[in-house]
Amino acid sequence: MSDRRAFVAGNWKMNSDRAGAVALAEGVADLAKNEAWHCEVGIAPAFVHLDAVGRALRAKNSLVRLGAQDMYPGGNGAFTGEVSAAMLKDLGVDFVLVGHSERRHVIGEGEDVIAGKVRGVLDAGLTCVLCVGEKLDEREVGKTDAVNERQLRSALAGVSAGEAERVVIAYEPVWAIGTGKVASPADAQEAHAAVRGVLADIFDAGTAAGIRIQYGGSMKPGNAVELLAQGDIDGGLIGGAALEAESFAGICRGAE
Ligand code: 13P
Repeated sequence: MSDRRAFVAGNWKMNSDRAGAVALAEGVADLAKNEAWHCEVGIAPAFVHLDAVGRALRAKNSLVRLGAQDMYPGGNGAFTGEVSAAMLKDLGVDFVLVGHSERRHVIGEGEDVIAGKVRGVLDAGLTCVLCVGEKLDEREVGKTDAVNERQLRSALAGVSAGEAERVVIAYEPVWAIGTGKVASPADAQEAHAAVRGVLADIFDAGTAAGIRIQYGGSMKPGNAVELLAQGDIDGGLIGGAALEAESFAGICRGAE
């Protein structure tokens, strides 16, 4: 076992209204405080709810970390519709998701864009949760590790070992996201171990040993304990099950 502290984060995606987001954040903050989970906990609401959710967390002196689901890599300026690191930091955001499969495969972000966002997040002093993962057709032809390796190498090119302390990897097999299909603990562990091997090659073994690798894709209270017990699974990035405080708590309780 390593001494990496698990990091369980809720990716709320494009859901809820403001009142619902605040109520959910308050519910998570209360449960986190009362139950003293062993993991670090984060929530990533939609941009338009970040201010209200951040205020709600601060009002409760909560240790729950506030995250954004995306970010423009450059500074303030003429970039219509985009959101900068300065704007996010002003709202108390301290981690940003980059390269989520929905941004890669629905919005169409390429690997160069994703690499630019990783650089922008790190330059801003924020934590980068870099998402990688294979599609079903890629898994079926045995390309899982190759896809993860390509996505890791392109996104992390130019990142130093020192900066890697602010990098978290989320391995999210695309076929498991929102489908109810979950990677078996053994398959997930195998992919995570391969990811850590690539990180050791990009940085060094010691740096790789310190990087948290979250699993994401239909993680629920009922399967979290077994997944989180795997040696290279250091938390989760949770979609659907993070939209209710009690089910999110059920996953956080599983991270010992
Ligand atoms: P689900 O937990 O809904 O499968 O979503 C996972 C995810 O995409 C988290 O980023």
